[in-house]
Amino acid sequence: MKRYELRCIACGHLNPFSLRRVFCERCGGLLEVVVRVDEVFDRERLQGRVMSMWRYAELLPDFGKPVSMGEGMTRLVRCERLAKAVGVKELYVKLEGMNPTGSFKDRGISVGVTVALEAGARRVICASTGNTSASLAAYAARAGIECVVLIPKGRIASGKLFQARLFGATICEVSGSFDDALRIVLDRAEQLGAHVLNSVNPWRLEGQKTAAFEIWEQLNGSLELNVVVPVGNAGNIAAIWKGFEELRDHGLTDAVPRMIGVQSSGAAPLARMFSTGSEEPVWVESPQTVASAIRIGRPVNWMRAVRAVRSSDGWIYSVDDEEILEAMRLMATTEGIAAEPAGAAPIALLKKGAEEGFLARDEVYVCIATGHHLKDPDPALVSWNAPIPFEEYLRRTLGPEPARRREEPPG
Ligand SMILES: Cc1ncc(COP(=O)(O)O)c(C=O)c1O
Ligand SMILES: [Zn+2]
Repeated sequence: MKRYELRCIACGHLNPFSLRRVFCERCGGLLEVVVRVDEVFDRERLQGRVMSMWRYAELLPDFGKPVSMGEGMTRLVRCERLAKAVGVKELYVKLEGMNPTGSFKDRGISVGVTVALEAGARRVICASTGNTSASLAAYAARAGIECVVLIPKGRIASGKLFQARLFGATICEVSGSFDDALRIVLDRAEQLGAHVLNSVNPWRLEGQKTAAFEIWEQLNGSLELNVVVPVGNAGNIAAIWKGFEELRDHGLTDAVPRMIGVQSSGAAPLARMFSTGSEEPVWVESPQTVASAIRIGRPVNWMRAVRAVRSSDGWIYSVDDEEILEAMRLMATTEGIAAEPAGAAPIALLKKGAEEGFLARDEVYVCIATGHHLKDPDPALVSWNAPIPFEEYLRRTLGPEPARRREEPPG
């Protein structure tokens, strides 16, 4: 038997259960799902199960048939050359770009849309820096319901906009930032009769926590490591931590990883909170960064993210745009694996942390490459490698060509 409770992350109040509830009835805080079960999986029992995140069924919602496209079970790739390049002992990259629409969002959206259907929703809505809109558009199409997305005008990567259009969402442009778009969604959703699928929706995080279960399974249960996650609206880092906590609470591990967050320095409300010792995020009114997925100045999930990082003895840092672009180049050219800029930010942090000495070189790191590199095929991101004429390649490789000897006519 499984029971669910909706606990407020701000005041702890246990709210009456409802699939539609997003905010605490007492204080307006955000909610988290507490799953009560008698028995969970162990590693042996998982053998032979479906190769998607739904293999962890005991700890996932069981309302109706999942709206699923095989999300999760993304590859965890050991990267020896990259480890050497950034200066750490052991490094794994989790390729979340392998999810059906190319980002980790599919985990949360799969659960979120399943729950929305069970709640009777016929229309779903989100604000997005791009990946949520692509994912929600696809899963809503699969579920046969209407999808509305609000995006900051002119500020989302072309691959993501292409996806939202392709999957048939109604796409509304909003002037301002992602934070403005999210405010509008939260203001208008009820009037529109639309189910909100941003990460304020506690069921989203239930899907996203499965990345932790996978890391545990893929590394044969050894979790003495650091997990490095790019932080935007701050839901994912909290969700992954929740997954590790659940493994510990069910006796499946003693050690849990240290959670390390990374933001871009032009959009770093939480990194600045940590570096200044402030009790609250240092809000950013016009966030700027090349990593459009984490161009967020007012992360709604800040409280649960800070709790995750503090409870695991971690920290939230920032890196500059140039460091992110260099990390993309390093990942791609040393390992042949790639990510959109936000997904490369963890590698940028490792390199900086190992160089400057604030991250230990002799530890194990798992970096979450949150989105596929083809999401953002902006040529400016690879300005270091423009195509050249073949003749130039010949000159570079073989040296200047000797002047051709004129053929003497025979005889
Ligand atoms: C590729 C990518 N990385 C990281 C993030 C940040 O995740 P969160 O908003 O849960 O912190 C996002 C969110 O849009 C994203 O699309
Ligand atoms: Zn509350």
